[in-house]
Amino acid sequence: MGYSRRSLLAAGGLALLGLPACSVTGDELADDGSGKVEVFSWWAGPGEKEGLEALVADFRQRNPGIEFDNAAVAGGAGTVARTVLATRLENDDPPDSYQVHAGLELDNDIGAGYLEDVRYLYDQQRWRDRLPKGLVEALTFDGRIYSVPVNIHRANLLWYNPAVLAAQNLTPAGSWSQFLTQAAALQAEGVLLLSIGPTWTQKHLLECVLLGELGADGYTGLWNGATDWAGAPVQQALTLFIKVLEQSDVVAAAGDWQPALDKVVAGAAAYNVMGDWADAYLRTKGLVFQQGYSVVASPGSARVYDFLSDSFTLPRGAPHRRAAEQWLIECGSVSGQDAFNPQKGSVPARLDTDKSKYTGYLAQAIAEWTDSSTRVVGSLTHGVVAGTVRSAAIDAALTLFVQDKDTVKFAAAAAG
Ligand code: GAL
Repeated sequence: MGYSRRSLLAAGGLALLGLPACSVTGDELADDGSGKVEVFSWWAGPGEKEGLEALVADFRQRNPGIEFDNAAVAGGAGTVARTVLATRLENDDPPDSYQVHAGLELDNDIGAGYLEDVRYLYDQQRWRDRLPKGLVEALTFDGRIYSVPVNIHRANLLWYNPAVLAAQNLTPAGSWSQFLTQAAALQAEGVLLLSIGPTWTQKHLLECVLLGELGADGYTGLWNGATDWAGAPVQQALTLFIKVLEQSDVVAAAGDWQPALDKVVAGAAAYNVMGDWADAYLRTKGLVFQQGYSVVASPGSARVYDFLSDSFTLPRGAPHRRAAEQWLIECGSVSGQDAFNPQKGSVPARLDTDKSKYTGYLAQAIAEWTDSSTRVVGSLTHGVVAGTVRSAAIDAALTLFVQDKDTVKFAAAAAG
């Protein structure tokens, strides 16, 4: 009969085993692999919880003894979840694993010492060879890696109601100025050009207008210092962003991204700019791609993939560290990613998964993502290109900008 690590600890077995105290906590997996893992995310709403459920189902199958404790906090882009999480981390009460984006967004948590370096898992699971090089770079800080990616989402997408456009003989515009020219015809039929939601969705729209107007290089330069925020191209793009917003329902904006998309589904609005989690949500409504809804790259950004990646961490002091490792292994696995991504509306982070599982919009997405001629840039709103301080400064400035429309003032704040 075997002893659980827990019972050995209780019996003072730690010293007998010669184990370093830090390698074992009171709640490790038992010898039979049983235990518990508390996972924190913001995938609680429709279109997101289905993906998480599929991942958890695969995890349970491979780890039948581990109880999954779902600590998801609802709210698009994690705006609510992040506040809850910050308090927990400050109070030394981490979950066993939590959701973050790949990229500079992690700077604060790394700086605060909240996270463990998980390169040993990358070595053990040979993840470096199975992930795109650029993604591994976005995950690497001073040579260390603090999270495990489960997917790739695309942010620069324009979703639309095909019947609404067909009724007006319209096709999705190739530039933001052309896009604006469609407002009048739609308005005459009582249809809004664009639906929008809370501030983070406005930031998401801003990132797509900047990308479309400045191009991939100009957009990337906004984050690495090569593009002048005070220069004419950026100022013009900011003016255009305000004009686009004026053709939206920003004054009575939806409470989150799903209700903003509902307006497109209902035919009250023609377009919505959103990442490809929209595909998952629209499918939960029983809609069929290319019939009930359709999508193109947001104006001016064809063949550019504005990417973001959801990843999971190993917090220092995770109460169930070994179960958390099993969760991270699941997130990084072929079976986990192929269970999760077809439901989530994202493509796998790994390059060696089963492409036949990705149909409809996702077949298109995976082809573009893996096409070597596709240009890849990083998302502002979803953590890739700006650290927490800069991103928060942009949030605060954007709220004012939408009111006062002062492009110079906004640019000065966003320039960092
Ligand atoms: C993003 C996240 C996506 C999706 C979206 C809407 O930040 O990366 O997976 O959840 O928010 O909530």
